[in-house]
Amino acid sequence: MKTIITGDRPTGKLHLGHYFGSLKNRVEMQYDYDTFILIADVQALTDNFENPDKVSNNVRQLALDYLAAGIDPKHSHIYIQSLIPEVAELTIYFSNLVSLGRLYRNPTTKYEIGQKKDIFGSKGESITYGFLGYPVSQAADITALDGDVVPVGDDQLPHIEQTREIVRKFNHIYGKTFKEPEAYLSSTPRIKGLDGNEKMSKSLNNAIYLADSEEEILKKVMSAVTDPQKIKKDDPANPDVCMVYYYHKLIDNNVESICRECKKGLRGCVACKKELAHALSEYLKPIQERRQYYEQHLDEVDNILKEGTEAARKRAQQVMIRVRQNMKLDYFENSRK
Ligand code: TRP
Repeated sequence: MKTIITGDRPTGKLHLGHYFGSLKNRVEMQYDYDTFILIADVQALTDNFENPDKVSNNVRQLALDYLAAGIDPKHSHIYIQSLIPEVAELTIYFSNLVSLGRLYRNPTTKYEIGQKKDIFGSKGESITYGFLGYPVSQAADITALDGDVVPVGDDQLPHIEQTREIVRKFNHIYGKTFKEPEAYLSSTPRIKGLDGNEKMSKSLNNAIYLADSEEEILKKVMSAVTDPQKIKKDDPANPDVCMVYYYHKLIDNNVESICRECKKGLRGCVACKKELAHALSEYLKPIQERRQYYEQHLDEVDNILKEGTEAARKRAQQVMIRVRQNMKLDYFENSRK
């Protein structure tokens, strides 16, 4: 069986962008792969080092979101990154194989540095060693567990490419040790926000969360961007520029009739939005019911995390024996031979 390694930073609740961008894939794929899902607390600290409470408090919240979304602990291991010290060790070995120039050119980190002017300076002049280097530690996350496939959103592609480069270089220098992992994208690797922005994101304040109540969803959907040419309720409109139609499509809700009625001016936006809010709530209902169950059984959640972490650590320990051998760091193993 091939191995999936993937995960998220514990910095807030997961939203539809996470769900359709990759979480749904992970849920569907977990039956056919050995699946490890990491809660990337070490990576979250790279830009939240002054907020340890925020990161720590979001670890269980993220676990709840995973379990709610349908990650099944019988089929997947959910684990905590900081509890796998082998990953920190491997990160150090990998850090020799990546130039600073290469790290500065990573488009995702570049974008993120621009978003975080408050911590990294207006021109990124105060960027930290840890943040610039987090793709190296992400490469260690994936390879320390012998990952084959990494289901992620499209913003993560540069990191997977970086991982593949590190693997090639490592294998070239120290001998074949790792396989090159592959990214796995969903058919919708990036979900637009309520405001029409290309990316749904917490920081853009345009997201619907998996745990949002029906009232919250209705309030948010009411603010969604629709065809600006449509002024009156019975004006014909173009659904292709409407975020409400976009989400109807995403959850496959009556799409053909909605499209037809919208184009003919037979569908007012308010009614259409109410219908969407209701359909979204129904769509999220099983997810929210599972969340409620686990919220009432937090001991079970902790056990899932402990077991997942133990399984991940065992695997990393095996891989690191191979790594140290190939890097000639297995001193006392050698002397006995
Ligand atoms: N960078 C990912 C994110 O921001 C989180 C992550 C950390 C990750 N390590 C990983 C994803 C390993 C896939 C594989 O969402």
